[in-house]
Order: sequence, then C-alpha cells, then structure tokens
Amino acid sequence: MPDRIDSILEALARVVDPERRKDIVRLGLVRDLRDDGTRVSLTVVLDDPTTAFARTVAAQCEDAVRQTLGPGVEVSVATDNRFVPLATDQGDDPGALAGVRHVIAVASGKGGVGKSTVAVNLAVALARQGYDVGLVDTDIYGPSIPVMMGIEGARPRVNEQRRLLPVDAHGVRVLSMGFLVDPDRAVIWRGPMVSSAVKQFLSDTEWGELDVLVMDLPPGTGDIQLTIVQTAPLAGAVIVSTPQKVALADARKGVAMFQQVDVPVLGIVENMAYFEPPELPGRRYHLFGEGGARRLAQELDVPLLGEIPIEEPLREACDGGIPVAATGLGVAARVFDGIARNVMHQVARRDALLPAARQVEILYR
Ligand SMILES: Nc1ncnc2c1ncn2[C@@H]1O[C@H](COP(=O)(O)OP(=O)(O)OP(=O)(O)O)[C@@H](O)[C@H]1O
Ligand SMILES: [Mg+2]
Repeated sequence: MPDRIDSILEALARVVDPERRKDIVRLGLVRDLRDDGTRVSLTVVLDDPTTAFARTVAAQCEDAVRQTLGPGVEVSVATDNRFVPLATDQGDDPGALAGVRHVIAVASGKGGVGKSTVAVNLAVALARQGYDVGLVDTDIYGPSIPVMMGIEGARPRVNEQRRLLPVDAHGVRVLSMGFLVDPDRAVIWRGPMVSSAVKQFLSDTEWGELDVLVMDLPPGTGDIQLTIVQTAPLAGAVIVSTPQKVALADARKGVAMFQQVDVPVLGIVENMAYFEPPELPGRRYHLFGEGGARRLAQELDVPLLGEIPIEEPLREACDGGIPVAATGLGVAARVFDGIARNVMHQVARRDALLPAARQVEILYR
C-alpha cells in the first residue's frame, strides 16, 4: 500500500547526481529515512559531504520533500560519506563486487515454476528502464539462462587481470555457470563445492558498475541454496510461485529461508496465474487455482509484485533466446515491466529504511 514513504522517495527521485546522471534513489544514496508525522529526516550518502555540491544536494532534497508534504512538516537532510555498500565480497578480494549496488536473488521452493523466466525478463526489463544490469545463473545442475538469453555456447572472455568478462545480451551483462561447468559433470558436486565455485565465479568477474545484479538460483530451499545466498550480500529476494497448493507451500519455505539469513523478501511473483485465450479476450482460466500467491503474500505481509499469465509468446521466447521483455510481445511483457518497477521500488524502500548497521551485519555475516 502506498504510504508517505513512497511519496517522499518519489520526490527525492527528482534529485539527480549530475556526474552519474542517475537520481539519488536509484543510486541507493538515500538512507536512514524517518518519518514521525511532523518531522522527516534522512541521510544522503556522498563521497565528500563537505563540498558545495553536497550542500546543494541536501538543499534540493529538502525542497523536493517540502514541496511534496506541504507546510507543517519539518524536513532535515544530513550528508555523510560513510560508504555502506550493499554488495561487497566478504572474501579475500573485497573489491570484487564493489561496483555492484544491489544483488537480488530470484528463488522459489519448487522447481520449474518459472524462476529463470522471471530472472531473465526482470533483468531485461530493468535494462530497458535504464538501469545497468547484470544477470548471473548459479544453477550449475540445470543452467537455462544461456538458452533464454540466446547465448548458448558463448564463452566469456578474460581480461588482462585474468578476470571473466560477462557476455552482453539484450542490454544485460550475463554470466552463467553453464559457460564454465558441464552440467552433466556437475551433478555429482556437493554443496560446499557448489558454493565455493559460485563464490569464486562471482568475485572473479569484472562486473563493472551495476545498479542491479540479478541472481537466478537453483530450485529448492536446501543447503545448496542457503550457501549460495550467503556467497553475496543480498539487497533482497524475489520469490516465484505458481498458484498451486504444492508450489505455495514451497514458496513459504523460500520466504522462511531468506528471513532466516536476514535478507529482505522484496515480494512474491505469481507465475502461470491464468490463461487467457487470444481469441477470447477477457476470459480467464485459472488452470492452477486462483489468487493463491496473493493470499500468501497477504498472509506473510510481503508485496505481490505481479501476476504473469500462461502465454505462448512467453514460452516461445524462452526457447527462442529473445525474452518477451525485449520484444514487448504479449501481456507478459507489460507485466514484467511492472514487476521491474515494483522490485526497484521495494529496493529503494529497503535502502532508505533499513538501519545501516543491519546492512553491515548482513554484509559480513
Ligand atoms: N507464464 C508462462 N507461460 C508459458 N510458459 C512458461 C511460463 N513460465 C514459464 N514457462 C515455461 O516453463 C519452463 C520452465 O520455466 P523456468 O525454466 O523459468 O522455471 P525454473 O523455475 O527456473 O525451473 P528450474 O527449477 O528447473 O530452475 C520454461 O522453459 C518456460 O518455457
Ligand atoms: Mg531455472
């Protein structure tokens, strides 16, 4: 439900960092936002808070919030250079993910519910909305991102520092375990091998500056998933479910897994929500049940990020290597656009509201 925090963030999104040409909300620079009804306070994270530029930014923020809330509310904006990166490798190479502002995991409890489909289209939709986006496939047993992104058989190049360069596809920087590991051989890998491979893979890659790195997880909520989600500090998780009872029960486990490691659940996506025959517009068949994910989201008090219909264009796009979010074909393309907006909205809220200490705690766990 939209509240005053949303209006404040919307106002702050009008303040743009001229050098990076992105607004300060998108850059994750708004922190410690508090609203007690009569007083709003926030901190903007800037490299050097002592400059005239910093004072200008603070003044712009104050003006923007005051304009939106009207008179009678006290607004105070502080600047700070305490750099609170949301994504930094915890290992021996602390700079590995330093340019990555937010890592978002796409997960489910049950297999085959459309995680990879959501990860791919979320990444492409975000790229089309102007974000710098990376996509990483951590499913070493059944990597499907290369096929869905049309880069099957691609081999990432290595730069002079012997770091992997992601493969560009549909405006997204992509890396898949499938590029490096033969899935037939990986079947015998055990949990610790998988997590150390994923960790190395993430930190040996030259991601560059990214607003978002979307991480596609293997199905399940077991040991392997748990260790993978701990290889990178996550800004949040997106849980995918179909409306079926069995899928919802597993989605609930997925939510619990992230809560256990203090990763915010950004929301639930309902996939295969309904089928609408193209020749019968308006006629919806709820093949797997109706509204299950909406009820689960309500019950767990997390947002429902979107409802994706069952569609032939979507299935064809998955097999054909050109995601619907890139072609704009079908209803699902529009739904993914909305999901991408909702996800980033939730990320902005988390950045602004979560106490910094907690982010650090997640970071170095
Ligand atoms: N809404 C949809 N409409 C039509 N087809 C879909 C839809 N969602 C997914 N699919 C199809 O279902 C298949 C499985 O989806 P996907 O690979 O995204 O699931 P997954 O959850 O990642 O599976 P796994 O658990 O194996 O990783 C895809 O090949 C895709 O073609
Ligand atoms: Mg998958």
